[in-house]
Amino acid sequence: MFAIYLGCLLLLLYYLYQKTYSYWSSRGVPFDKPFLIFGSFFDIAARKKHIFHVLREIYDKFDTPYVGIYILNQPTLIVRSPEILKRILVKDFDKFLNRKVASNESVDPIAAHTLFSSKDQIWRGIRAKISPVFTSGKMKLMLPLMKECAEDLNAYLTKRAGETLEFRNVTKKYSVDIISSCAFGVNSYCLKDDNSEIMQVATKLLDLKSFVRNFSVFSFFFVPKFVDIFRVTFLDKTASDYLIKMFQSTIAERQKKNIVRNDLIDLLSNLKDNEKFTDEYKFDDIKMAAQALTFFSAGNDTTSLTISFTLYELALNPTIQDRLRQEVQETFAKHGDFTYDAIYEMKYLDMVVNETLRKYPLTSFLNRKSASKYTFEETGFTLDEDVAILIPVAGLHFDPEYFPDPEKYDPERFSEENKNKIQPYTYLPFGDGPRSCIGQRFGLLVTKMALAYTLKDFAFERTAATAVPLVFNSGSFFMQTKTGLHMKVVKL
Ligand code: HEM
Ligand SMILES: *[C@@H]1O[C@H](CO)[C@@H](O)[C@H](O)[C@H]1NC(C)=O
Ligand SMILES: *[C@@H]1O[C@H](CO)[C@@H](O)[C@H](O)[C@H]1NC(C)=O
Ligand SMILES: *[C@@H]1O[C@H](CO)[C@@H](O)[C@H](O)[C@H]1NC(C)=O
Ligand SMILES: *[C@@H]1O[C@H](CO)[C@@H](O)[C@H](O)[C@H]1NC(C)=O
Ligand SMILES: *[C@@H]1O[C@H](CO)[C@@H](O)[C@H](O)[C@H]1NC(C)=O
Repeated sequence: MFAIYLGCLLLLLYYLYQKTYSYWSSRGVPFDKPFLIFGSFFDIAARKKHIFHVLREIYDKFDTPYVGIYILNQPTLIVRSPEILKRILVKDFDKFLNRKVASNESVDPIAAHTLFSSKDQIWRGIRAKISPVFTSGKMKLMLPLMKECAEDLNAYLTKRAGETLEFRNVTKKYSVDIISSCAFGVNSYCLKDDNSEIMQVATKLLDLKSFVRNFSVFSFFFVPKFVDIFRVTFLDKTASDYLIKMFQSTIAERQKKNIVRNDLIDLLSNLKDNEKFTDEYKFDDIKMAAQALTFFSAGNDTTSLTISFTLYELALNPTIQDRLRQEVQETFAKHGDFTYDAIYEMKYLDMVVNETLRKYPLTSFLNRKSASKYTFEETGFTLDEDVAILIPVAGLHFDPEYFPDPEKYDPERFSEENKNKIQPYTYLPFGDGPRSCIGQRFGLLVTKMALAYTLKDFAFERTAATAVPLVFNSGSFFMQTKTGLHMKVVKL
C-alpha cells in the first residue's frame, strides 16, 4: 500500500518537475540544461562559483540571440544579441521598465521606494525627481566635498608609505567618507579614524555574513516570492534605521540653522520643499531617506571596487601606470588643482577607468522583466508576461568578437581611434537606457578624484602578497575577491 502511495507521489513530483523544466524546450528556446531543482544556479547556490563565471560559461556555451535558463524553478531569459538588447533597454523600454526584483510596500517600504527596486509609476515619479540631482552642474558644486576626502586619502597613504596595504580596505573608507558627506551631510572620517561608527554601520547595511542576510539578498534578486513569504528586508534593519535617523536629524539641523552645503541631502530637501500639489509622486521623510540609503548602498562598494581594481591593474602594468601618472601630473601642473574641468580633460584616465569597468563589471549582469507578452521581430518568438531577463554583461565584456584578447587589461580599446569600433550594447558597465545607473557621473568623478590624488604622489607596486590571478569570493554579490588586493605604496 505504502509503496503505491510513494509511487504516486514520485510520479506526481516527476510530472511537476517535467512541467516546470520544460518551459523553454516547449517554446523552442535554446536552453541550458537544468540541474535538479537548482536550474543553472547549482554552482552559485553551492558557492562553488561566482555568478560572474557562471554567466560567462552560459554565454560562451551558446551562439544564439538568447538562452533560456532556470534560476531554481524560475524561467529566466539570458539575452546575448546586442540588437535585441537595444530593444529591451532603449527602443521598447516601456515593455521592460521594471527589474524582476522584490518590491512589496508592506514587507519592505524602503526598498519599494528606492529607484533600484521600485516599479512602474512609482519608479517614473522618483526617477524624474532625482535626475536633476546628478547633473554636471550639481556635481561641480559637490566637488569640494569630494576633494576633502581625496586629500584625506592622500594623507592616509603618506602616513603608510613603504607599506603593503590591502586596498579594498583603504578605498572602502574613502567611499564611505564621500557618501556620508555627500548623501548624509556628515563627516564620517573613516580615513582619519579606524573606529568610525559610521563605518561599522555601513559594513552592516548590506553585509552578507549571516545566513539570513545572504538569503534575503539572494531572494531579492532571484526569488522575489520568498521576500513576501519570509518578510525579509534587502538592507539590514538596524543599520538602515540608524542611517534614517541620522538623515532626519541632519535635515532638521539644517533647517534650524539655515546651512547650505550643496550636497545630495540639500538637493533632496529642496525637492521636497518645491513639490507642487499636483505632483504625482510626493516625498515624505521615509521616502527621502530611502533615496539617501540607495545612494549609500549603490555608491559605496561600486566606487571603492572600481578604484581598487584600477590600482591593482596599474601595479601589474607599470607602463600604463607611468603613462597615467604623467597625464595626472601634467594636468595638475597646468591647473594647479584638480578642478572639475581638469578631471574631465584627462583622456587617458578615462580610458583606464573604462577598461577597468570592462574587465570588472561589478554586478556581472543587468536585470529586467517583461511587462506584457512581447514578440521578438528577429526570431518570431513570443515571450510571456512577467518573465525575468538577465543581461549577461560579464559574457559580453569577455566576448573576443567584441573585445579581442579579453583577459588582457588594455586601455587602448578606448582610445580615440578604437572606441568607435566598439559595437553598441556590448559595453554596459552602467547599463543603458532610461533605467541605467543614475549615479554614473557621480561614481566616475569619485573614482577619478581618488586616482588623480593618489597617482600624483605615489607609485603602486606588485609584491609577493599581490594575488595573481584574482579569485572571486563565490558568496559575494559584487565582484569581491577572496584574498583582497594587496599593493605596496611608494611615495614619489
Ligand atoms: C563605478 C560606479 C558604479 C557602477 C559601475 C554602477 C553600475 C550600475 C548598474 C550596472 C546599474 C543597473 C543599470 C541598468 O539596469 O541598466 C546601476 C543602477 C543604479 N545605480 Fe549605479 N553604479 C555605480 C555608481 C553609482 C553611484 C555612485 C550611485 C549613487 C550615488 C548609483 C546609483 C544607482 C541607482 C540609484 C541605480 C538604479 C537606477 C534605476 O533603476 O533607475 N550608482 N548602477
Ligand atoms: C583593514 O583595516 C583595519 C583597520 O584599519 C584593520 O584592522 C584590518 O586588519 C584591515 N584588514 C585587512 C584585510 O588588511
Ligand atoms: C559599504 O561599504 C562597506 C565596506 O565595503 C561594506 O561592508 C558595506 O556592505 C557597504 N554598504 C552597502 C550598503 O553597500
Ligand atoms: C506583499 O506580501 C504580503 C505577505 O507578506 C502578501 O500578502 C501581499 O500579497 C504582497 N503584496 C504584493 C503586491 O505582492
Ligand atoms: C568611457 O565610457 C563611458 C560610458 O561608460 C563613455 O561615455 C565614454 O565616452 C567612454 N570613454 C572612452 C574614452 O571611450
Ligand atoms: C553567507 O552565509 C554563510 C553562512 O551561512 C557564510 O559562510 C558566508 O560567508 C556568507 N556570506 C557570503 C558573502 O557568502
